[in-house]
Amino acid sequence: MNPYQLILKKRNGGEHTPEEIRELVLGFANDQGIETYQMAAWLMAVWFKGMTVPELSALTQAMVDSGDQIDLSSLPGVKVDKHSTGGVGDTTTLILAPLAAAAGATVAKMSGRGLGHTGGTLDKLESVPGLRTDLTSQQFLDQVRQIGVAVISQTGNLVPADGKMYSLRDVTATVDSIPLIASSVMSKKIACGAEVILLDVKYGRGAFMENLADARELARRMVDLGKALGRRVRAVISDMDQPLGTMIGNALEVQEAIEILRNERPGSALEVVSVELAAHLLEMAGISENLDRARVRVRELIQNGEGLRKLGEMFRAQGGDPRVVEDTSLLPQAPIIEPVLSPSAGFVTGIHAQQIGFAGTALGAGRKRKGDPIDPAVGIIMEHRVGDEVKAGQPLAVVHARDRQTLTEARQILLDSIAIGPDRPASRKLIEEIVE
Ligand code: URA
Ligand code: CA
Repeated sequence: MNPYQLILKKRNGGEHTPEEIRELVLGFANDQGIETYQMAAWLMAVWFKGMTVPELSALTQAMVDSGDQIDLSSLPGVKVDKHSTGGVGDTTTLILAPLAAAAGATVAKMSGRGLGHTGGTLDKLESVPGLRTDLTSQQFLDQVRQIGVAVISQTGNLVPADGKMYSLRDVTATVDSIPLIASSVMSKKIACGAEVILLDVKYGRGAFMENLADARELARRMVDLGKALGRRVRAVISDMDQPLGTMIGNALEVQEAIEILRNERPGSALEVVSVELAAHLLEMAGISENLDRARVRVRELIQNGEGLRKLGEMFRAQGGDPRVVEDTSLLPQAPIIEPVLSPSAGFVTGIHAQQIGFAGTALGAGRKRKGDPIDPAVGIIMEHRVGDEVKAGQPLAVVHARDRQTLTEARQILLDSIAIGPDRPASRKLIEEIVE
């Protein structure tokens, strides 16, 4: 079929054969016969007509086949991976990767950078003095073989079709299509080679999916896709209406992860979600026989310091200063630290996670455009969560800033995004449901 007929078929609600999908995706990725405007039109047709289960599997497989795949088969143990759809104060990787490795899982993980209001694990890690994330494939595999864990930036030419399609979606109003998001995320996870994939699908005002029904559908489609392509996959749907962690910023989020691994924040939202995700990984990997045992095991690894020790090992292996896990004052520090005070008394009724993320971006913790530099030291410490009671004049947050101008900007965003009201609001569950 020529490209015109492929577009017409999707536009009219027809179902593609796997061969047709390969022709489109590989033709576009390799500049062989599919022009950019044709792919754009096809993506829009998918936005309106959706994709069947076989179409989506074929799309994802073709995307994976557009580039290299990481071969983890030479590594011992069960290879596990976790993907979060992104959020604010979402520091779970830095906590669960060392915990899962300390429990015996093999964690060979590629992470991303922050963009817009969301943070990225690589930016956070690179706030550790000396730490590198640009390992070669060989260094990556060697490190995982030696210590069981590495978290690095993408190595090799993984899923070039996604890079090209995503840039096009970004400028043609076709990003927010559940099948296109599912194939984009899962193609990258599949190419990274893990046998066990845990998806943390966020919903709420700081998430890609604002409402639960959309998050559920995305989770369902990604789990089905992973299974169709031969992986053990599960999704957790978790709350991202307010920031998950207390700290937002790069060095600050590393600090919070360290404090959790030191058992200094038991019961905090970030700890609860991180432990739960780590437990799912251990159970899915067959390291713990059920979830309850897995939770006990993960908590032990926090209490006995094994998780913290593993994080220090990972820092050292990647060239970072391992003393940071004992002394977080070795992390970059902002010159200005000032509280934002509550203008009134009452209950915190809402904390708009996306806006808090933008306050971080205003300070320099995040980037507005791909490739922008970031400031590792700056960020925000939230003093309250939704449901807390506050007095007028009490700190709502503490801002770590580089200069007065960004401080003022962040302060205003924070005041606008933390709602105070007379009644205690209903609480949302941290983990809403599990999709298998
Ligand atoms: N993140 C991705 O990697 N792909 C999407 O399509 C959306 C979010
Ligand atoms: Ca993230």
